[in-house]
Amino acid sequence: MKKVAVIPGDGICPEVIGATLEVLKKVAPGQFEFREVSMGGNAIDKYGEPMPAESLKICQEADATLLGAVGGPKWDNMPPDLRPERGLLGVRKGLKVFANIRPAKIFAPLASACPLRKDIADKGIDFIIVRELTGGIYFGKHEAFTTPDGEKAARDVMEYTDHEIRRIAHVAFKMAMNRRKIVTSIDKANILTVSRLWREVVEDVAKEYPEVSLNHLYVDNASMQLIRVPHEFDVIVTENTFGDILSDEASQIVGSIGMIPSASLGDNNRGLYEPIHGSAPDIAGQDKANPIGTILCGAMMLRWSFGMNDEADRIERAVDEVLKAGLRTGDIFTEGTTLIGGSRMKDEIIARL
Ligand code: IPM
Ligand code: MG
Repeated sequence: MKKVAVIPGDGICPEVIGATLEVLKKVAPGQFEFREVSMGGNAIDKYGEPMPAESLKICQEADATLLGAVGGPKWDNMPPDLRPERGLLGVRKGLKVFANIRPAKIFAPLASACPLRKDIADKGIDFIIVRELTGGIYFGKHEAFTTPDGEKAARDVMEYTDHEIRRIAHVAFKMAMNRRKIVTSIDKANILTVSRLWREVVEDVAKEYPEVSLNHLYVDNASMQLIRVPHEFDVIVTENTFGDILSDEASQIVGSIGMIPSASLGDNNRGLYEPIHGSAPDIAGQDKANPIGTILCGAMMLRWSFGMNDEADRIERAVDEVLKAGLRTGDIFTEGTTLIGGSRMKDEIIARL
């Protein structure tokens, strides 16, 4: 029995997580023990804190964790330590999952949802962002203070150690070895001292992978190249904040943020799997949310934490077939396709397993 901790999250996420559990039960009946835990806004409402210690403990004891996004306007005015996002960062840190893998790939049937010029999209888009997930500004010192002149001021510290950079670089190079063997490291080394260390360490790690070609881009330039020549990218490795921003950009290039799963891994294969979209409170409870990003997280979990490649293939193929059949939730709808709700999307995927 594989133990999976399940964090349904806020907004639309209980819907898309529910859909994913149904898919998993169908593809591998009786193989999972799901334990639902509370984290995020719903945990604040229930327990007065975004990440109850008991929830984290259950995730730490599980073989993998499946997580829906958290947050919403209801909790936007909470003090920083009690915001739902703090719970999310707590899970990532508590599970020590420092490598967040975010694939960006055009699904052939969705080519028309790609906002880029056809001649650019036609060259193919298939890259992976390896985002550092447990360091950088997200976890540096955060401070609001008053200057000696009585003016309000604030600072957030971006800090990385050699070993934090080294281990994420290894993840990227290893991935590239199984792909087209190109790593692009993205930084802001023309300005930031942290980025200069980043570059130095990545170059050092590159020596262990002579078959992989390494190039560096400044983050501003990278954001431009991603829409100019997306086909040139294979594996991108970057620090936490840059990876957060660039992965949202990547999601639009391939059609919709609702389509992209992510896996966060540490030193062992107990991963954390979360779609890259947010909790979309504006459409919660209306059966509009696209469950595909989260369902594909389920497939990633099968593949990477449990080595269940056949089952993962079956889910990915079913998703592909549903898209080929022209079925679309609102976020990926284009003229000539059929608009359906999230639960119907899930049913159609299950029917094709
Ligand atoms: C993401 C999200 C989170 C992040 C937020 C919700 C804290 O944007 O997973 O990309 O910034 O990491
Ligand atoms: Mg983000």
